Amino acid sequence: MHLTVEEQSMLAGEHGRATQKAMQILTALGKIYGAERMAPVSSVQVAGVSYDNLGEAGLQFLDEMASAGGRARALATLNPAGMDVENWQALGISPDFAANQQRVLEAFKRMGVITTCTCTPYLAGNAPHFGEHIAWAESSAVCYANSVLGARTNREGGPSALAAALTGVTPLYGYHLDAMRQPQFTVQVSGKVQGSSAFGALGKAIGEQISSRKTVPYIRGIESATLEELKSFCASLATYGGAALFHMEGITPEAAIVQPPPEDFTVGQAQIEAAQTDMTDAAGDEPVDFVSLGCPHLSIQEIARIAGLLRGRQVVKEFWITTARPTKQIADRMGYTQVIEAAGAKFAADTCCVVAPIQGRFKVMATDSAKACYYAASKNRFKTVLKPFDEVVLEALRENINHEGHEGDTK
Ligand code: F3S
Repeated sequence: MHLTVEEQSMLAGEHGRATQKAMQILTALGKIYGAERMAPVSSVQVAGVSYDNLGEAGLQFLDEMASAGGRARALATLNPAGMDVENWQALGISPDFAANQQRVLEAFKRMGVITTCTCTPYLAGNAPHFGEHIAWAESSAVCYANSVLGARTNREGGPSALAAALTGVTPLYGYHLDAMRQPQFTVQVSGKVQGSSAFGALGKAIGEQISSRKTVPYIRGIESATLEELKSFCASLATYGGAALFHMEGITPEAAIVQPPPEDFTVGQAQIEAAQTDMTDAAGDEPVDFVSLGCPHLSIQEIARIAGLLRGRQVVKEFWITTARPTKQIADRMGYTQVIEAAGAKFAADTCCVVAPIQGRFKVMATDSAKACYYAASKNRFKTVLKPFDEVVLEALRENINHEGHEGDTK
């Protein structure tokens, strides 16, 4: 593998032990995947931030890298942490967990990594442009960056993304190369798809067809898609299909450049509805006791929508609204936060319902997110109900009906 003079000096330890370790990680990866050289990166997204996932060993690694002089050479932001950094008490996070989570964030801060904790960095100042080489972890953001923005990244893990941040480079292989960005099969979508939950269900329906192929789909038949629908679709396709890249005719930038392969299979309303049912029927007749929106993190338009639906009303269930801190700050300025909190819903900025330590706290979660359904069931052992966005908000307002048919507060 060819290394520049500077990369060689990093590997030789001339830029400190942390940079050396980072370059060792990247050259090892490059050799495994046959990269000819490194590519400079303009943007990094680091995963492995929640103390719930990292544990003490992970925290110690970060601390050592910071103490060994590790400093970011590219713009780098963080995945969601295990708590809202400012509002953790209201979310029932323990003081011990909060202290450890703060130590994690402090280590990243010492390394010059921007401690904006979000899975939608492209909504919070880390938005690479078409064709740029980047190194992102977080599967939904990887899929969005590759497909919707047209930037180029592999699905990095926490250590390789941090290594890219500390060196400013990443091995040039996989989705950085034109050849790997070509679609291998075409999916024809029939019927209208609208809303974040429907796009999430579509992502599941397509994802389950492609999960064994580990290839790039070319998707036809989507007339239009909003930013919010695309982020939901990316999260779901990455979760259920392991996809890091897709092309969508008329929507994503490389769809006009690549050659669509002959059609492979069709996804219609029946498959989309089946995917929706699949993520809902686990709930049986147990009442929803937890409502969460913001997987991936909410845009300001979505928060405005929630405020509009909640204005002057009171929620009767635990309702988390997860978003990036900068988006929350816009919500504060616009008065949305005040409306939402007056209704009894809770902001969970910097975190989400999957990475926060809430396993076992709730039984049944309502959400519009196919990805959240997957992890709520597998990680947190919740049952799930997938609903359209507005109906999720209404679910938070609705008293549960008990088995005798009477309304009863679940709190
Ligand atoms: Fe983001 Fe958490 Fe969902 S990291 S994509 S909100 S599982």
